[in-house]
Amino acid sequence: MTKILLLHGPNLNLLGTREPEVYGSTTLADVNSRVTAAAAQRNVEVRAFQSNHEGALVDALHDARTWADGVIFNPGAYTHTSIALRDAIAGTGLAVVEVHLSNVHAREEFRHKSMLAPVCVGQISGFGWRSYLLGLEAILGHLGVE
Ligand code: DQA
Repeated sequence: MTKILLLHGPNLNLLGTREPEVYGSTTLADVNSRVTAAAAQRNVEVRAFQSNHEGALVDALHDARTWADGVIFNPGAYTHTSIALRDAIAGTGLAVVEVHLSNVHAREEFRHKSMLAPVCVGQISGFGWRSYLLGLEAILGHLGVE
């Protein structure tokens, strides 16, 4: 069975109440259950994890090496700053799709640069919670799962 890590970075635990005009009103629990349900229809298992701590996200990627076939990752603000997460993705060799609820390229300039995108399979940005569903489709396509 194909297994996917659904990884969320800082402040995403606040989804639903956090700047809803930017990120929508869907909660993180809703995102997780929608992705899990869509994956189950394809006989794919999803394990979700969120942390506000960079090192915990690094640890989750290291751990995923032992069980996950791929990762859907919204790194939050660490997208724009974290060499440690970039090195974790490169160092584990995991297939990672970077996702964002908002269109980071249409926002402040500091959000235009992703430290992680160059070591990811690709980036999906701007489709609200559906970015995660598109991320699922993208990672399964990359893994050759029908
Ligand atoms: C985000 C975009 C980031 O710039 C921001 O720091 C977030 C959320 C998004 O999903 O749109 O925390 O990753």
